Amino acid sequence: MPWDEATPDPVAAIAAARAELGDTFQVHSGDADYLFVFGADAVRWFYAVDEAAASKGVADWRMLLRKLPDELFLGRRTLPHELFGRDDVARYRTLLDGAIDGAIREIDELGGEAMLDAFSLTRRLGHRLGLASWGGTAFVRSPVFDQLVGLFDQLDASDAFVRPDLVAAIAAVGKAEERSSLADLVALISEIAAESTSESTAGFRAIMARWADVEPEAAVAGAAQDLILVHLGSMSNLFAAIGWLLIDLALRPDLAASAMAESGLLERCALESTRLAQRSIMMREVMAGAVEVPDGDRTYRVPRGATVATLLPLTNRGSPDLERYRPERWKGRRLADISHLGARELVTTFGHGPHTCPAQPFSLYAMTEAVRRIFDRYAVTPQFTAVEPRRSQIGGVARSEEAAVLRFDPAGSQSPHDRLT
Ligand code: HEM
Repeated sequence: MPWDEATPDPVAAIAAARAELGDTFQVHSGDADYLFVFGADAVRWFYAVDEAAASKGVADWRMLLRKLPDELFLGRRTLPHELFGRDDVARYRTLLDGAIDGAIREIDELGGEAMLDAFSLTRRLGHRLGLASWGGTAFVRSPVFDQLVGLFDQLDASDAFVRPDLVAAIAAVGKAEERSSLADLVALISEIAAESTSESTAGFRAIMARWADVEPEAAVAGAAQDLILVHLGSMSNLFAAIGWLLIDLALRPDLAASAMAESGLLERCALESTRLAQRSIMMREVMAGAVEVPDGDRTYRVPRGATVATLLPLTNRGSPDLERYRPERWKGRRLADISHLGARELVTTFGHGPHTCPAQPFSLYAMTEAVRRIFDRYAVTPQFTAVEPRRSQIGGVARSEEAAVLRFDPAGSQSPHDRLT
């Protein structure tokens, strides 16, 4: 695996192993064993398995520990799941609109014919969307926003799977830079919370309420670390998925025009862009005794401590039809026709079963609203013919191998949605 030894293109390496060994095979790497599964029965089992038997939480934690300081995981009181209730998402919608305004203002400031890498644009947008939602508007105001962005980008947990080639060097120096960024983030967030109104730090105050029994200084530090872990989690997928939606529509102007006129179609494009850009490895670490994994032909007994895994770039593109960008394959948020698939679970955007992404409605709203507002305001022209996913990455939605530069020209006429004039 790429965190144990140099593997320039881990997805291609696992695809080659599958071509040679079939849909179920074992990988021994470092001091760990992985059972990779790609067949319909095994993948269906994978998404249904109970957390107590084979844990996603433990597998993810092990992955993130390759980058994040261990102490960030101790004593957390806010789980991301708790921040995506119906009322929360309704509150975030207003904040998202303001965050998108901020991103559009930054493109405007570059003047006509602005040239921007799609992922640099959406990365800052993702920070705005997230920090406004679970922190509050105080966290996206200049100049603190730029300081926060710098520190979060350095601490970025997704380096563990986007740049797995770096994890040995990070471990060798005891995660020194990460520890320093974490301390600076806690100090900065505490300072912003102390200096800002309750209204402008509404999300952070809600997290603070979970620390009411602790003396004030420790409570703020604890709540700041809760916020940091949630925000780092949001950085894995959201900005990259918005980037691909922007790119996919910029490459297809006719589809973009139709999608701007029909929000259902725009959401189907968001699902289709996410499906094709998935680079995720999905993992479950076996917890108790052993588990039995059926793969159609036989049953594999996987012992405690081993990891069962599957890889979305291989399943999501598992046929010539699935290689194509075809938003009409979606009906609502589900595939319209699964008769050609052995199991619905062989295509994954936001997951299946008990671990389905709790942030799916929030993310789809953020993706579609951000892209709709951008296309309303600008003619977006790609300065490329195709964008390649980053080869070293094994996890999350793909980043790009090279910059994906888009040109933004003010659209001929302003739409009624435009609120920045
Ligand atoms: C386009 C954006 C996103 C995509 C494509 C996405 C995708 C996914 C997928 C595929 C899973 C299931 C993983 C598995 O079964 O192993 C998942 C779970 C999860 N996602 Fe997302 N996600 C997105 C945005 C977010 C955001 C913004 C957050 C906020 C922090 C978030 C938090 C979570 C959490 C906490 C889980 C675990 C749920 C559980 O274990 O019960 N996701 N996501």
